[in-house]
Order: sequence, then C-alpha cells, then structure tokens
Amino acid sequence: MATIVQGKKKYIPALGYDQLTGYYDLIVRLTMPEQEFRKRLIDAVAPLSGETILEFGAGTGQNLIALQQRNNQIHLTGVDIDPKVSAIAARKIAKHGFRLQLDLYDGATFPYEDHSFDKVFSSLVFHQLDSETKHACLQEIYRVLKPGGRLVIGDWGRPASIWMRCAFYLVQLVDGFKTTHDNVKGRMPAFISRAGFKDVCESDFINTGIGTFCYYLATK
Ligand SMILES: C[S@@+](CC[C@H](N)C(=O)[O-])C[C@H]1O[C@@H](n2cnc3c(N)ncnc32)[C@H](O)[C@@H]1O
Repeated sequence: MATIVQGKKKYIPALGYDQLTGYYDLIVRLTMPEQEFRKRLIDAVAPLSGETILEFGAGTGQNLIALQQRNNQIHLTGVDIDPKVSAIAARKIAKHGFRLQLDLYDGATFPYEDHSFDKVFSSLVFHQLDSETKHACLQEIYRVLKPGGRLVIGDWGRPASIWMRCAFYLVQLVDGFKTTHDNVKGRMPAFISRAGFKDVCESDFINTGIGTFCYYLATK
C-alpha cells in the first residue's frame, strides 16, 4: 500500500499502488462478483429521471457507466481525488458516448454548492480512508446532499464468517490495516450517523472471495 500525498491531498490509489491503477478493472472482475455487487448498488441508488446524483470516489467509472445505462435521464457527476484514475474513467465514458461530469477533489472541500444532489453514492472507497478522513468526507457528502436526500454506500464491512475474515486479510495487505480496521469492526453505520444522517441501516451484504461487501443506506 502506498499513500500519495500532494498538497492537501492524501490518498491510497485504487489498487493500493499507483503503478497498478491501469489493472483495476481486471482485478475487480477476477476477485469479486462484479456484475452482482454493482447491480445491487444501482438497485439501491434507484435512479429516477431528472435526479442529480453524485458518485464519491468514482474510480474508473464502472458504476457511472452502469447507472447511465440504467437511466439516461439522470444528471450524473463523479468525483475522485486521483487524476490518473479519473483520466481512465473519462476515456471509458467517452467510448460509451455518455456525457457526464467528472471532477477532481482537492482533499478538503467538494467542488459543489450546499444541497446540490438528490442522491450521493460510493463504492469501495471508505475502506481506503482513515477514521478522520471518513468523517470529513461524510460531512462533505452531507453538505452537498439536498434535505431528504439519500446516501448509498457499498464497501467492506464486518466479515460474515471466520472464512470471510481470513479472506479479507488479502484486501488489508493491499489497502493497509489502518484504514480498513473500522470496516472490519462494522463501524460504518456509526460514522454515517455521526455526520448527521438519519435512518442509517445496513440493508444487504454479499460474501465475495475477498471479504463481506456491505450496503449502507441513510437519509439527510
Ligand atoms: C477501490 S477504488 C473504487 C472505485 C469505484 N468506486 C468502484 O466501485 O470501482 C477507490 C477510489 O477511491 C478514490 N479515493 C481514495 N481516497 C479518496 C479520497 N480521499 N477522496 C476521494 N476519492 C478517494 C481512489 O482514487 C479510487 O478511485
């Protein structure tokens, strides 16, 4: 795991090391039930025509493309901290002929006004953030959501069995033990509540080859 520090930006690249970012899609396809976990994520987002929707930590754009394919009448924006992974997403999105907004996060403030989005979602990002950054990012998500807006997070959670716990050591070796510790302990709902969200729940989970992937829902 390599933490990249650039000014206010401090982040772990998509696959733990900058040199591996180009292999991200392949590795996810090989290690996770990708179609199923992304389908359930998009089911939870439930995009309705006319809605403004933000993906936090959009990575290589896999969710943005799937969401746009599900409903092309939405206003979709992706934000990520890493220019390298965003460039990959931009190329793929252009190939699909979609026009949606991709922005870079400076590590401090999202580049959006208060109350800009009906929904914000995120997948496989929070396990790469230390506790302080998890809290700061959830506060930013809260700020940019409209009152009554919906939050959907898919990420590694408390392992559902001893086998899932053992398998998850592989993710921890790549992404680090410090940032993943809160996830393993099942603390994501507490972080979400602390940022001010209500109706926080773990709605679903999938056991994968490398750990238990959980879905968290909340309302502003
Ligand atoms: C494992 S990838 C997940 C990408 C995508 N959401 C998916 O489901 O495939 C994690 C992403 O979070 C981004 N990221 C890491 N730290 C971040 C931060 N502090 N703010 C915003 N994005 C961050 C990384 O650049 C990377 O693109």
